[in-house]
Amino acid sequence: MFITIEGCEGAGKTSAIQIIQEFLKTQNISCLTTREPGGTTFGTTLRSLLLSKNTEYIPPYTELFLYLADRHHHVHTVIKPALQQGYIVVCDRFIDSTIAYQGYARGLPLDTIEQLNMIATEGLLPDYTFFLDVDPCIGLERARRRSLIDSVSQEESRFENEELVFHQTLSRAYKLMAENVSRFITIDANNPVDVVKQEIIYHLQNIL
Ligand code: TMP
Repeated sequence: MFITIEGCEGAGKTSAIQIIQEFLKTQNISCLTTREPGGTTFGTTLRSLLLSKNTEYIPPYTELFLYLADRHHHVHTVIKPALQQGYIVVCDRFIDSTIAYQGYARGLPLDTIEQLNMIATEGLLPDYTFFLDVDPCIGLERARRRSLIDSVSQEESRFENEELVFHQTLSRAYKLMAENVSRFITIDANNPVDVVKQEIIYHLQNIL
């Protein structure tokens, strides 16, 4: 089974992945958690180019191709082999981030992104996608607070530094996808972490 986690900045994806990982452990289920960009050593280099607040201007198509390069390498060398070995793979962001960020927010054509996504994933689609639905103002506030105390988050703040309207567009894009694509499971991520945890575990029990 292949599960992806999606959401705007500060939605709480890291906590959600920890919750899923711990729950699967209690069920004795082997799981691999990974992320995009940066799920491989090769991808880590792409991640720092893509997310560093100090990177020079990256035109939208350059940005798209770098995310797709990271994805193809990651799917080919990590995700598919793990699925073949019977692991549940849980990935922090995947194809829907590209649709939301490079498609809706940067304005690149959605049909082109969908076609390129399919090439990059070699046809692999998630079985389930947990969408952590957070109000963009609350999410940004959380992300910016985290950047104040965490030097990695501070360095990787290129997207966080976009205007509020960019984040509001992302939020609308995710909601639209969640309404129209059946693999999406929406979690209200404005809630405290305990409530989010209960909701995630409830859904996990239903899909396992
Ligand atoms: P994160 O690890 O904090 O989620 O950071 C990844 C950033 O990269 C986040 O701002 C979303 C962005 N992103 C895209 O713009 N397109 C993509 O395809 C992916 C995977 C991430």
